[in-house]
Amino acid sequence: MHSSQDAGFHRQAGSLHVEGVRLADLLARGLPTPFYVYSQRQLLADYARYAQAAATLSQAGLPSPVIAYAVKANPSRELMAVLARAGAGAAVVSAGELQHVQSVGFPVGQVLLHGNGKRSVDIDAAIGFGALISIDSEFDLQHVQARAVALSRRPAVLLRVNPNIDPQVHPYISTGLLESKFGMAETTIEGLRPTLSRLAAAGSGIVVRGLHCHLGSTLKSVQPVLDAARQLLPLAARLRDDGHPIDTLDMGGGLGIDYSHRSSAPTPPVPQDLIDGLRPLLAGWPLRLWLEPGRSIVGRCGALIGRVIGIKRHGSDGTGGSGGAGGERSFLCTDASMAQLIRPCLYGAYHHIELLDEPPPSADAQLRLYDVVGPICESGDFIGQGRLLPTPREGDGLIIYEAGAYGAAMASRYNLNFLPAEYLIDGATVTCIRRAETYDDFARTFVREPLPIPQDKPSRE
Ligand code: LLP
Repeated sequence: MHSSQDAGFHRQAGSLHVEGVRLADLLARGLPTPFYVYSQRQLLADYARYAQAAATLSQAGLPSPVIAYAVKANPSRELMAVLARAGAGAAVVSAGELQHVQSVGFPVGQVLLHGNGKRSVDIDAAIGFGALISIDSEFDLQHVQARAVALSRRPAVLLRVNPNIDPQVHPYISTGLLESKFGMAETTIEGLRPTLSRLAAAGSGIVVRGLHCHLGSTLKSVQPVLDAARQLLPLAARLRDDGHPIDTLDMGGGLGIDYSHRSSAPTPPVPQDLIDGLRPLLAGWPLRLWLEPGRSIVGRCGALIGRVIGIKRHGSDGTGGSGGAGGERSFLCTDASMAQLIRPCLYGAYHHIELLDEPPPSADAQLRLYDVVGPICESGDFIGQGRLLPTPREGDGLIIYEAGAYGAAMASRYNLNFLPAEYLIDGATVTCIRRAETYDDFARTFVREPLPIPQDKPSRE
């Protein structure tokens, strides 16, 4: 639980509250679980840390940075609307995200599309909207240039650099080493300079406005980002010398958050650390900084709430199982699963778990090591393993913390668990911001329609 006084999540008399709302009361009212719950206060506080840090860069006389929220972290319309109203821009990866950003009302000048495999539908949507486009590869350059010429538009683009810097994160979310599929090596961009100059001289298609780099997610230090900036700036200068109107440097997202809830855990870097590190590097450069945070804006404001379905023990207490090689094992089965939160099983990610109400001290409530598992038919369906928890009763509520980023966004209907409801809490007000999906929502897309296939005329009788 967050220690600060004004944290969105806190305990009062042993009972977990989000702002002014006691979560057990929601469960007592029969609200179906699992569901996601968000604290608006926490969301605004975490965005404000970026806005305040960004302001210190403007105060130092540098162009005011753009904080482009990485929509993939959580595409909740309501959370995005809160961020848009607070002044955020948006970083998107598909025509779908772009359409969503447009419908929420993000300002055109603060939206960027990136992606290593953009389809023409993504490129056309970005050009149509007037979004900045990050070019990920030589083929991407050709594709974007071709669509820009076809649409008679001059989209502003950044070149995504892969600086070959190790961000020291899980390999699936590490993007700044050359073994990752993202971006272009500096040598590739050097080799492209004549082509880019030729395109600029031709006066149609893309306009190169700067460089982009995103090293990875869950960064424990800002140092790799500063190292990357040091590498990118001279390249930006060479491109400017080539005559491109370079005015933008996008250093991506990636700041980690504390998932551990241990006071002894190292403190993750905060936006001010990043800005303080970048300020001296950017001094004297007429470059507008873009950042694309996702997790560090929405991660802490959201939690997944489930109910305990039952407890099962294998092993030495004689309730079944031979104990096998693993010996005794206790499972706390909840209705929250990998279908709503895939991070533990996909990345081995730790999410802190607590019961909503601390049980009164009794023999039943003894602490025990539990594997907290869901009802999905896979042994990989766990939310947490080996967690020391009081033994709950069936129906008790539990909270899975820091699930605001890449939780609901990556939820699936696996085993036909329909997508869960989402609630936003602001003070004492609870608003349903996404209703639970129903069987009918799911069933609606099943059709039986013949697909007309053009027949080739036989060339000869
Ligand atoms: N910019 C780019 C180019 C990105 O690829 C990403 C995330 C971000 C910004 C935002 O990064 P953040 O600030 O959220 O770390 N599903 C994984 C995370 C995947 C991140 C993908 N890219 C997880 O659950 O940890």
